[in-house]
This record gives sequence, C-alpha cells and structure tokens, in this order.
Amino acid sequence: MIYFDNASTTQLTEPVLEAVYKALREDYANPSSLHSEGFRTEKLMNRARRQIAAALKVNADEIYFTSGGTEANNTAVLGAARAARRRGMHLITDEIEHPSVTDSFKQLEEEGFEVTYLKTDEMGYISPEALKEAVREDTVLVSLMHVNNEVGTVRDIAALCAAVKAANPSCLFHTDCVQSFGKHPIPVCADAVTVSGHKIHAPKGVGALYIKKGSNIKSLHFGGGQEKGFRPGTENTASIIGFGLAAELAAKDMAVNRDRVKAVKDTLLRALDGLDGVYVNGDRENGSPYILNLSFEGIKGEVLLHALENEGIYIATGSACSSRIKKKKKIVDLLIDGRGENNIRLSFSELNTPEEAERTADVIKKTVPVLRRFRPR
Ligand SMILES: Cc1ncc(COP(=O)(O)O)c(C=O)c1O
Repeated sequence: MIYFDNASTTQLTEPVLEAVYKALREDYANPSSLHSEGFRTEKLMNRARRQIAAALKVNADEIYFTSGGTEANNTAVLGAARAARRRGMHLITDEIEHPSVTDSFKQLEEEGFEVTYLKTDEMGYISPEALKEAVREDTVLVSLMHVNNEVGTVRDIAALCAAVKAANPSCLFHTDCVQSFGKHPIPVCADAVTVSGHKIHAPKGVGALYIKKGSNIKSLHFGGGQEKGFRPGTENTASIIGFGLAAELAAKDMAVNRDRVKAVKDTLLRALDGLDGVYVNGDRENGSPYILNLSFEGIKGEVLLHALENEGIYIATGSACSSRIKKKKKIVDLLIDGRGENNIRLSFSELNTPEEAERTADVIKKTVPVLRRFRPR
C-alpha cells in the first residue's frame, strides 16, 4: 500500500505506539486520584504537556489538552468571542479555514456577532495590509490558519499577527496550526494556537489549545476541575502521553523530515511534468512539502481517487472532515472556480519514499489518458 493521505491522519510510529501501549497497560490510574499511581499518571501527563509546550516554545501551564483540533478550534473561537462580547462584537476570519473554525463563526453570527470573511488570493494568502484595514476598534478576535489543509499554503502568521496587533492591540489572535505543528516552525506570536495529535503520528482524539497567559477565553465545558477547570473531563491520558512523545520527536527531526518529504513531493511533481491538463492548486514554489493538490482537466477527483485505490494508492479529494459536507463550496473552488471538481490531494509523511512517488506518478500517467478517453460526455 502507498499511503498518501497523511493530512487526513497518520500512522503511529513504533516509539509512539509503544508509549501508548505502555500507558494503557501500566499507567492507567486516573491522574486526579490521590494515590501514588494516580500521581504517576499525572506526572506522565505533565511531561507530555511540557513536550508540547517545548515544541511550541511556550510555557507548559499555557497548554490545555482537548479531544482534538476540532474541539480546540471551537473553544478558541467561541470562547474568545463570548468572553469579549462586552468590548466588541466584530470578528475576522477568512473563507478557506477548516470547518471547525468556519462553523464556529457561523454560530457566533447567530449569537449576534458580525463576522468579516476575508478573501484570499488564488493561492490562499491574505495580505497583512488588507487584514490591518479590516481590523476595527470593536474587533475582538481574528482567526487565520497557518498551513491550509487542502492546498498546503503556508501563511506568514507572524506578519498577520503583527498587522492585527498594530491595528488593535487588545484583539485576540488565534491560529489553527493543525497542519503545521511538528512540520513547520510556528512563530510564537499568537494568543491562541490549535494543535492536534493524529497529524503527527499520535493517536486520534487528542489535541491541545495553547492560550497565552492573560488571554481571556471562556470555557465551553462544565464538570470536574481537570485542566484547571477549563476543560473538565477525565483526561485521555494514554493518547496525551503518545502526543507528547510524537511532538518531541517531530520537533527534534523537523528539518530532516521536511527534507525527506520534500524529496517525495518533488519526485512526484517532476514525474508528472509532461502530462497535459494538470494544475497545481496552491503555491507550487513555496507551499508546504507535506501537501500537493492537483486538478486534472476532464477527470473528476473522485474517479481518479478510486482508480488509484485500485492500484493500492490511497489519496484524498479534499479534507476528510469536509468529505461528508456536500452542500458547501469546496475550498479549491473558492481559490479558483472550476478546479474543485477535478482535484485530488496527496499528502505525505517522512514514512513515504521517492520510490512511492515514482510509482504513483506512473499509475497517474497510465490512468489519466484512459479516464479522459472514456469520460461521459
Ligand atoms: C487545519 C485543520 N484544522 C483542524 C482539524 C481538526 O482536527 P481533529 O481531526 O484533531 O479534530 C483538521 C483535521 O483535518 C485540520 O486539517
């Protein structure tokens, strides 16, 4: 099998698998229990907190564990806006965010907030100047993602954050770093950052929200005192322990992994160069090496996906989370109208090889002319 769907989720690496297994087998006590076994689990969980904080270059007491990126995004957007509603009711985001961000803003519109959805350029960038102009005195929250999950555009988060703060220093800046954490350096500038475990070889169902000390985000949950009462509920300790290790390993090997992944993406692009009617969506030159989004003239993305699947190659036509939301306009169509229907997303990890890229390119080059010949008129 060739697995090129790593932006949807990744395989656990051996060390992470072992750490999770050990935690499930041996370190299963409740971290809130008062006995020594509970204390041991708590210590392991707090080590994971430190590992994630170190990867983000922030303090461990600014990390709150969640059930994943979706919950962290929901919490950041809803919690920040609701906490600030007396100061202002204006919010800013853009059109190509993950649904866990976009739909949180839609909810806030129903609660009376006014939302500006910034337009991006054809690659998914937002200009800091346009952002600065959009920020008002009553703007209380801006949320813009770092690496786009569908086309891999890498935004200059430091410049965007600086633009917001220049226009309104008390406006909270949140960024969804689910696709960049452990893969791209994340500048320490935002007030809140979302990360998720399963994109970096940790289990699914665990994530974290960084909240800069002093930032006001209202909790969405009620119950016990876990996570300083901000995110109550017995912690998913084994997955948290795995997430901590995965974050440490990803941070340590970031440069090496990126080179490896880049070799895979470059091989694929080079091998497809002669093929007619193929377009790269996003930024071909400076996009994330982890994501390659292509449109093939005259072929539906889904048809190509299944043709590749028949050859043991697993890819996507967009984000897994959006695949069940049929009525929304596809992100790729928001960038360039008409490209969405014909697009596929290949996403890589350091476990992939250039040989896999070559084999995939061969299959694409063999399959595309056949599919074009037999396409329904
Ligand atoms: C950019 C982005 N944000 C948020 C999420 C949601 O993360 P999770 O699957 O951990 O809920 C994803 C998942 O694909 C993502 O790609």
